[in-house]
Amino acid sequence: MMLSHRVGRACHVLVLVLCLSAAEDFDWSANNHDSFYYGTFPNGFSWGAGSSAYQTEGAWDKDGKGLSIWDVFTHKKGKTFLNDTGDSSCEGYYRIKDDISLMKELNLNHYRFSISWPRIMPTGIRSDHVNEKGVKYYDALIDDLLEHNITPIVTLYHWDLPQVLQEKYGGWQNISMINYFNNFASLCFERYGDRVKHWITFNNPWSAAVEGYETGEHAPGLKLRGTGAYRAAHHIIKAHAKVWHTYDTQWRNKQRGMVGISLSGDWGEPVDITNQKDIEAAERYVQFYIGWFATPIFHGDYPQVMKDFIGRKSAQQGLGTSRLPTFSSQEKSYIKGTCDFLGVGHFTTRYITQKNFPSNRGSTYFSDRDIAELVDPRWPDPGSEWLYSVPWGFRRLLNFIKTQYGNPMIFITENGVSEKMLCTELCDDWRIQYYKDYINEMLKAIRDGVNVKGYTAWSLLDKFEWDEGYSERFGLYYVDFRNKNKPRYPKASVQFYKRIIKFNGFPNQREVENWKRKATETCSTSNQLLAADPLTSHMEMVTEVVVPTVCTLCILISAVFLMFLLRKRN
Ligand code: NOJ
Repeated sequence: MMLSHRVGRACHVLVLVLCLSAAEDFDWSANNHDSFYYGTFPNGFSWGAGSSAYQTEGAWDKDGKGLSIWDVFTHKKGKTFLNDTGDSSCEGYYRIKDDISLMKELNLNHYRFSISWPRIMPTGIRSDHVNEKGVKYYDALIDDLLEHNITPIVTLYHWDLPQVLQEKYGGWQNISMINYFNNFASLCFERYGDRVKHWITFNNPWSAAVEGYETGEHAPGLKLRGTGAYRAAHHIIKAHAKVWHTYDTQWRNKQRGMVGISLSGDWGEPVDITNQKDIEAAERYVQFYIGWFATPIFHGDYPQVMKDFIGRKSAQQGLGTSRLPTFSSQEKSYIKGTCDFLGVGHFTTRYITQKNFPSNRGSTYFSDRDIAELVDPRWPDPGSEWLYSVPWGFRRLLNFIKTQYGNPMIFITENGVSEKMLCTELCDDWRIQYYKDYINEMLKAIRDGVNVKGYTAWSLLDKFEWDEGYSERFGLYYVDFRNKNKPRYPKASVQFYKRIIKFNGFPNQREVENWKRKATETCSTSNQLLAADPLTSHMEMVTEVVVPTVCTLCILISAVFLMFLLRKRN
């Protein structure tokens, strides 16, 4: 009896172990490119569009806002395309009502935006000053969204660190950011948490760390190769965990919201899925990307492969400790599990193969990975140089997340495609194709069992695209940046996305093909509008410059004439 019980238990444990290890294994060889799947999303699936403060608000120095690292960075020469800045951008700060009407046009369930830290805390330090005008702006935005039944999904940090914190402490290189960020987050929970139930601590910390502190392409523009990004990421992860705990202990009971983080990750596909070296290289690529942040948050520590590679290379360079910082065991348990939902930003895919970078030539985050990235020249790339359309990579990434992190609740926080600046084409059939195929792969992932609850098209409007300035347009709506009123025009993809939302997916082939036809029909009319736009700007120039000048001249001439008459009389 005892023995059979024990055997029974052992079998049970064995089955459990087998199940667990099966659940944790991602199948690298299962890349089947299925055909288009017609079907709908689960009831209650949330459809949205997104933006971020620095990219859309403008009003960079208005109503008591302090400077952010992006204000300072873009005002230096040579940092962005054509020295573009976000000074006025879409003037979103003044256009809440207009933009909400665009969201209503799409019938969005949610809108994702970010709060500019220096707009509500000019120096970044709560005890210095809270800018009530800035607080009110987000109050109004949240209220208006809710009034229109649009759920706000709010990001606390979309890269615009207060400049004072950069200058005084070195920004994310400094551990003190953790408390400053926690104070900022606490103020947001205090002021907005009665209405906001979805919080994202950080947006794409990979970019903030790598492009901000390793390559210097983004603000604050530091090039601390091989160490800067790791250090910044280390503090960001701790800051995220601290804010999650603050919410958990002080606000959750009362406010009943959720706190997550939004991680961006390209998918890495082995060049040869039968080659173990390629598989390992591809996995490294993904672990150094999304795994860098997700593994500590879900499992308590950095991915083993990062610890191994960076540790080994650091030792070869004669360093006493790894360039990758370590978490104490207390920190590990504090960080583990600090995610109510995972935000996923995804745009593109790369083929990956193994490539050794000798550590004696100095190290960077990139050379630490020992990989080479390749693209298939047949992949479409209508806009940003880095953005190839590879829809199946999306399903692969989502399945990878499911297997690695215990099938967390996911919100897609960014997905979309750009076009080049000079393209004033509103008939964006390539964007329609991108959304159609990527959203379809997400639907397939949901059928695979991935727990995706919502999707955010990136982005609602064309906007300031960081170091690329205004040269890359991601919007569903075209923004004419030359016109000071920043008018918005719907691209054809608005009509298409609107129908996906209305039908909660793709009902059948005939219907979906019809959508595309209808979408491109309407856009030709809007194109005429846009073509007429230079005329509008010309008219504005006439009223603003020519009319006042002519009037002044008339007054001057009359005055001279009058003086002449008076003199004659005398
Ligand atoms: C990710 C960033 O979070 C977002 O701000 C940017 O617009 C997109 N990438 C596209 O580059």
